[in-house]
Amino acid sequence: MTPTRRASLADLPLSGGGKKWTITSARQVLTETLRQAGIDSPEADARLLIAHALSLDRAALTTNSERLLRAEEIAAIDALAARRRKREPVSRILGQREFWSLPLRVSKDVLVPRPDTETLVEAALDFIGVARDRPLRILDIGTGSGALMLALLSELKNATGVATDISAAAIEVARGNAKHLGLSARCGFVVCDIAAGVSGPFDLIVSNPPYIEHGAIAALDPEVRDYDPALALDGGPDGLDAYRAIADEAPRLLAPGGRLIVELGAGQEPAVRALFTKAGMTVADARPDLAGIPRALSASLAPQLRHDQDAMRPA
Ligand SMILES: C[S@@+](CC[C@H](N)C(=O)[O-])C[C@H]1O[C@@H](n2cnc3c(N)ncnc32)[C@H](O)[C@@H]1O
Repeated sequence: MTPTRRASLADLPLSGGGKKWTITSARQVLTETLRQAGIDSPEADARLLIAHALSLDRAALTTNSERLLRAEEIAAIDALAARRRKREPVSRILGQREFWSLPLRVSKDVLVPRPDTETLVEAALDFIGVARDRPLRILDIGTGSGALMLALLSELKNATGVATDISAAAIEVARGNAKHLGLSARCGFVVCDIAAGVSGPFDLIVSNPPYIEHGAIAALDPEVRDYDPALALDGGPDGLDAYRAIADEAPRLLAPGGRLIVELGAGQEPAVRALFTKAGMTVADARPDLAGIPRALSASLAPQLRHDQDAMRPA
């Protein structure tokens, strides 16, 4: 018998009470309980969690909608629902997130890559233009899951890269993703502070550094505050610590004619522009994300600085 009364929080867990559940009725109740728990996308989350618990894709979930669930399937749904009600993001529960159409594994040690970060990939590909077949050298500072580096390598078939992270556990996740996507042969991984010990020159340097002001972290959504690693969020007292370190390192690492592209937090463009300009770089307008927020800031070596760098390079 499927439940007919209005769903409420009391309907979870689904197990116990001896009720029979179909996929549809479980979806309805889970959607409603997630909504009541204040979750923004309850319908999509319920669908994804149930599909994951049952190992079914979206189409199979629909075609099997009236199938009765077995006790162990109900228990599996309950376990996932309990995690989501504690505000654990769905991608963390599933252990996977798509970025630039690439399936990436995510663990507790890496930021779940965000759609806004795809703005950096777009900016990088615009900069490269028609020269996509060149053997470009790319550096990704603070690679996390490897999202930026792997998206770029998937587009630029002759490029090679170095990806850094201060977290050894994050580097292991990025390395695993590179292997899974068949991109390992073109990417090295280094555990280090920013780019210490890495030598250039690089045609392209990308970074989505930690940029949240330390004091603002407590007010973030629980999905972010409680589940993204602190190392991936905390940009120091004013949110700009990592940009300062990148500004110090980029002139040493950029090839003449190369480009540095960093992700910005909302409202950070003027401060980061000033830091990069002070470091001797020429800064372009930031590329906005889909919400119109300046998101990807590009900089290159100013001509005089480029001249000095060339003079320092062995003949
Ligand atoms: C905002 S996350 C970005 C992850 C990934 N690039 C993405 O866009 O999804 C920032 C990453 O920088 C790393 N990180 C923080 N401080 C660092 C430092 N001083 N040097 C290198 N990596 C650092 C964190 O461990 C984290 O993986």
